[in-house]
Amino acid sequence: SFTPRVFSGIQPSGNLHLGNYLGALKRFVDMQEAGGYETVYCMVDLHAITVWQDPADLRRSTRELCAGFIASGIDPEKSILINQSQVPEHAQLAWVFNCVARMGWMGRMTQWKDKTAGKNAEAASLGLFAYPSLMAADILIYHATHVPVGEDQKQHLELTRDIATKFNHDYGVDFFPITEPVIEGAATRVMSLRDGSKKMSKSDPSDASRINMTDDADAIAKKIRKAKTDPEPLPSEAAGLAERPEARNLVNIFAALNGQTVDQVLGDFGGRAFSEFKPALAELAVAHLAPISSEMSRLMDNQDEIDRILTRGAERAREITAPILKKTYEIVGM
Ligand code: ADP
Ligand code: NA
Repeated sequence: SFTPRVFSGIQPSGNLHLGNYLGALKRFVDMQEAGGYETVYCMVDLHAITVWQDPADLRRSTRELCAGFIASGIDPEKSILINQSQVPEHAQLAWVFNCVARMGWMGRMTQWKDKTAGKNAEAASLGLFAYPSLMAADILIYHATHVPVGEDQKQHLELTRDIATKFNHDYGVDFFPITEPVIEGAATRVMSLRDGSKKMSKSDPSDASRINMTDDADAIAKKIRKAKTDPEPLPSEAAGLAERPEARNLVNIFAALNGQTVDQVLGDFGGRAFSEFKPALAELAVAHLAPISSEMSRLMDNQDEIDRILTRGAERAREITAPILKKTYEIVGM
């Protein structure tokens, strides 16, 4: 049996947003505080370069993301906080997994299909295609048993389980755990403020589509005020949101920020217009994000502190990853 261990990561590709906060960071903190798990959290810079990143931007985004983790409540003493490229065993295990996983498995990933839809897939990087294999390595190099993620990552987690199963089967071992995804809460899929059918994303070209964690109070209020909605007042129970994706998204965000269920939020706001709900939501979002963004800017002015934390995190991580890689190589015959 395996030590209960949580692993999760976020790409340092700029524009850390409310979806990352509610779907990932806030839940990472909850799992850190829950006890009963070792927690490992990662800035996945090797994933970020599957699409072109300006080097100076990548360097800045990595530090900014580290600041975002800490400002959101990740304590580098309680959790292991790392940048992926500083722990070389991630990439080393990924190569082994590239030889375990099948081309067909990768080709079926909906994220791959979405990212190459309408484009020339032949021109995508090989890394973008192989991304889920590196993600499996990120998780399994820690023998992680639980991975908190948003719904967008569910299929990649299934692939991680397939890779662990095939490795164990091919080599006749019981070495890698079959990791459980942890997908729960009101905000596992925060949607774009401009289009209720798209998830809020770092890479959306429209800045108005997302609330960035570094947005100031005015920007947050303006984006929420302009968020796309329908003209109806809010329903009095969750079932009334079924066909109203934009309304449902704003209510989900409110519920997740306020630690309430959707029905509790509608108990307070049912029958009321968006002109009343939106300012309340903006106030709540600002109350949560303002202290985080000011701590982020304090940390960004102290880059040495960030760099020290990441160096120390990598040392702690390698106490786990180096023996697991060594054992993997032994199993494979190297
Ligand atoms: P992005 O898709 O914005 O580039 P990442 O791929 O780096 O973000 O995802 C980091 C984490 O944030 C993952 O756990 C992912 O599931 C979560 N996440 C990303 N976007 C959202 C969203 N819109 N709603 C909820 N969780 C999200
Ligand atoms: Na993503």
